[in-house]
Amino acid sequence: MRDSFASRIGMVLATAGSAVGLGNVWRFPYMTGENGGAAFILIYIACIFMLGMPGMISEFIVGRHSQANAVRAYTSLSGGRRGWGLIGVLGVVTGLTILGFYSVVAGWCLDYLGVSLVGGLRGDAASVERYFSDFTSKAWQPALLAIAFLVITHLVVVRGVQRGIERASKVLMPLLFILLIIIVVSSCMLPGAADGIRFLFYPDFSKVTHHTLLAALGQAFFSLSLGTCCLCTYASYFRRDTNLVRSATEIAFLDTLIAIMAGLMIFPAAFAVGVQPDSGPSLVFITLPNVFRQAFAAVPLLGWCIAVLFYALLVFAALTSTISMHEIGTAYFAEEHHLSRKTSASIVTVLCAILAVGCSLSFGATDSLQVMGMSLLDFCDHVTSQYMLPLGAFLTSIFLGWFISNETLRSEFTNEGTVARRLFPIYRIAIRYVVPICILLIFLDQTGLL
Ligand code: PHE
Repeated sequence: MRDSFASRIGMVLATAGSAVGLGNVWRFPYMTGENGGAAFILIYIACIFMLGMPGMISEFIVGRHSQANAVRAYTSLSGGRRGWGLIGVLGVVTGLTILGFYSVVAGWCLDYLGVSLVGGLRGDAASVERYFSDFTSKAWQPALLAIAFLVITHLVVVRGVQRGIERASKVLMPLLFILLIIIVVSSCMLPGAADGIRFLFYPDFSKVTHHTLLAALGQAFFSLSLGTCCLCTYASYFRRDTNLVRSATEIAFLDTLIAIMAGLMIFPAAFAVGVQPDSGPSLVFITLPNVFRQAFAAVPLLGWCIAVLFYALLVFAALTSTISMHEIGTAYFAEEHHLSRKTSASIVTVLCAILAVGCSLSFGATDSLQVMGMSLLDFCDHVTSQYMLPLGAFLTSIFLGWFISNETLRSEFTNEGTVARRLFPIYRIAIRYVVPICILLIFLDQTGLL
């Protein structure tokens, strides 16, 4: 019998765990910082509603209807036309590629957790910066940590949906929430924190350009795990009576709440010590250790505690996301190639470990792994988030909006007419017009054509 989520709460926590990840705690704060704060957040929330929720419901419909891995799910909903299965293939490839480079960044988080535990990262600003560049340019240590992260992910995934994924999410997600609250409260109580809070909640629309709009759309996308067939794979473990609209609303709400809380954790502390909020991707690895040290200089033990809790939080957030990416490939190899779960999970782990080692080495240890002038890590990040994710979600909305009958769609959306009937027409307009057009705009913007 095919595995499925045992409880509703387990299902919501696992799916929210996929959505909540480095995208919320690392990417969202620095994007908000770079794009002017509150105005960006408002646009981001609008994007979650306009694009994210219909996109999520679409992937849920494909997965739950077919109760199969991503490739078979698309083929079966199309009535056996194999061409549509290619959306699933794209999802599997995207999922594995993201897992390859994401585990490298997750490995850095593991290292920072270890180093902050033993009281490292306490030197001056220059030494913290040097630590990051020295560490990432080492040959084996970061690569081995990425592999370690993949192995931890593997050990959860092989145990199956109920005993592995659901159980881990039920422990990790509440833990993550508690850590977040502790750090938010400590950060907001610092003298000078009010400026950071103001930055997050008072919109300055003069900073909004069409790039802000499109950056917010792209972020909404990555953060909800849209376009990788990850949501579709998880939905294949949903029960028939799961209310898809309600679940999507809960998950989108949790994901947005946690992203905003991550902002409330980082900006008040950064403003308290006079650090500019727009330091980009290195915010978490270079700026923040300095912020923690300076902000809590009066009580070093508290500074140590907050740093340890913060990197533990990053590790937990990353883990619930890597588990979901791993599951896309594991379900695919097991079901389509008739392998045991153990064997197919091992294939995913080995493939991603090879990519992760390449990504890790390319980031500093060697110059020979450059693609189009970027390190392999940046290249994988760039190609997946800017091309493959939008393409996957675009094709899914075209598929459901234009090639699946209204009756089939309505029956899946409303659980055969029992829930959310009045919302169906809005959903249909969204996936036929709004979602594809928005994605097309992101796409044109990111290829420089707009
Ligand atoms: N949503 C995850 C995050 O915010 C990233 C992710 C992307 C997870 C695609 C699964 C699939 O970090």
